[in-house]
Amino acid sequence: MINLNVKINASEKNYPIKINNNDIPELYNEVLEITGKNNILAVISQKVFKLYGNFLNLPKERIFILKDGEKEKNFKTYQKILAAALKLKLTRNDFIIAIGGGVCGDIAGFAAATYMRGIHLIQIPTTLLACVDSSVGGKTGIDTGYGKNLIGAFYQPDAVFINTNFLKTLDERQLKTGLGEVVKYAFIEKSCKCDEEFNLINFLSLNSDKILAKDNKTLEYLINICISLKKSVVEKDEKEGGLRKILNFGHTYAHAVEKLTKYKKYTHGEAVVKGMEFAFDMAQKMGIIVESYKYIAEDLIKKYNFKKIPDFDIKKVISVMKTDKKATAENIIFILPVDCAVVKEYKMFDNEILKYFDGN
Ligand code: GLY
Repeated sequence: MINLNVKINASEKNYPIKINNNDIPELYNEVLEITGKNNILAVISQKVFKLYGNFLNLPKERIFILKDGEKEKNFKTYQKILAAALKLKLTRNDFIIAIGGGVCGDIAGFAAATYMRGIHLIQIPTTLLACVDSSVGGKTGIDTGYGKNLIGAFYQPDAVFINTNFLKTLDERQLKTGLGEVVKYAFIEKSCKCDEEFNLINFLSLNSDKILAKDNKTLEYLINICISLKKSVVEKDEKEGGLRKILNFGHTYAHAVEKLTKYKKYTHGEAVVKGMEFAFDMAQKMGIIVESYKYIAEDLIKKYNFKKIPDFDIKKVISVMKTDKKATAENIIFILPVDCAVVKEYKMFDNEILKYFDGN
């Protein structure tokens, strides 16, 4: 078990992140240890509900089934979750439990953050992406026509329960979506300032067969590494004032790809891989990395055979990147590789980016 200790304003919140492969129905007792006799509204992904049923033994009215897909992460669904909580007369002592992938955790987390100015929250991530990234660290939110995650809150859960048995039913595309974020951790590892050294680039390079075959022990180990890295970053910078920005490696371009394709064509992880390729390309053109590191990065990405995304018109990409919440009025913020597993923030003007990429 990993304990994440986040300073929130002047106070501290310390919450457990439990990683195991117990039988899924055992989650019932693990959850009860946290909720006690308080009431629960479970927001559960439709796919997970179909596959695993009501493993928390909740009465029907306490289950909100969330349709799958990024397009569900919207105002309307958010309102419906709040309406369900109001109908159940949940109080501030009660719990919302998010059971599903990133979309589920983000929207249920945002509902928990805002219902009565905040009620208890438990995250039970069921996809690799949610296990290694979105369920940990307190980012919650919804999408609007103006962009992804533009409405949201930092809201830390009371506990995160990761059960790797859920990963057994992930299809290849969902697995690779999570692996996109895992590869991101490899390229930022040293910048995470974690006490432990994992050499994740090497690990991912040597164990791709086992990882792609969803070997349970290997995935469990991998999740532990990613969460240790994320914990190290979030504990130092909960609200992305500085260090946490490194977790957005590949994301500036990725969010533009997702928006340009209306969140329909590519998954988040696929777009992040494209964003990382773009970042390596830019870093090489700027002369801030040695060529050999770019080749190492390209080889690692190739090993996982991610979905190929074509280049987009750079002017269109720039105009969308400027609407990202990380952008300022004058420039776009990129996290770029500068050395093996080391990244740095760069603020770039349109014309600088165009200088490197016009003609694409
Ligand atoms: N997914 C990036 C972060 O949690 O900061």
